[in-house]
Amino acid sequence: MTVSPLPYPLRLTGTDVILREWRWEDLDDLVALLDEPDIARWTLMPSPFDVEAGLAYLRRAHQGRIGGSRIQLAITADGGRPLGEVLLFNVRSGLHEAELGYLVGLPYRRQGLASAALSLLTGYAFDTLRLRRLLLRIDRGNSASTSVARRCGYRPAAEPPIEQDGPYGPAILDTWEYVESRSAPRDDRRKNVAARRYGR
Ligand SMILES: CC(C)(COP(=O)(O)OP(=O)(O)OC[C@H]1O[C@@H](n2cnc3c(N)ncnc32)[C@H](O)[C@@H]1OP(=O)(O)O)[C@@H](O)C(=O)NCCC(=O)NCCS
Repeated sequence: MTVSPLPYPLRLTGTDVILREWRWEDLDDLVALLDEPDIARWTLMPSPFDVEAGLAYLRRAHQGRIGGSRIQLAITADGGRPLGEVLLFNVRSGLHEAELGYLVGLPYRRQGLASAALSLLTGYAFDTLRLRRLLLRIDRGNSASTSVARRCGYRPAAEPPIEQDGPYGPAILDTWEYVESRSAPRDDRRKNVAARRYGR
């Protein structure tokens, strides 16, 4: 297995996107991307998402990256301005599985960016990290996110729904999976269902 610690720094180039490390100078762009109602609604980011929240976010991302516990990359068109984010976290090496998440800034949606970024990181997780089961936890009401998942080859997993309370009331998260092998014990998979927040 090559997943612990995760590679850093990392730059992944696809046909339509380049995924790169966050930089401190991305702070203003990050705040503009994340200070948005749909991001707050579906990822439970702090709202308003201000400069202080942005700094804390970049700090946490940096710690996770240098510690090798997660992959957290800005989605860009050409390696420059960040348009969104895709991440891989909660790696469970024994089970060869991890979770992924994504978001795209409001002005950049419906252009295929989330799909391109998720496909690229999914391919990397399988081909290079040798993970065998990738998971998404998606609120049942988040039709944009379920469309992205489906488009990238993820399918609903046979796992119990995860119920959680948030500022918008009770929510139900479904697990979506991208699987190459179904050999991991199902009981172990079910332990991976603590309270869900984007990237937690
Ligand atoms: C979900 C999100 C990342 C989608 O990003 P995006 O770059 O617009 O997605 P894409 O352009 O790759 O769209 C992929 C598919 O989703 C569909 N889609 C995108 N937004 C949609 C919406 N609001 N309603 C319905 N379908 C939508 C697209 O039509 C496309 O489907 P297709 O393959 O049938 O054409 C973005 O809306 C977002 O950041 N939302 C807030 C954060 C969030 O929900 N993150 C996911 C948490 S699980």
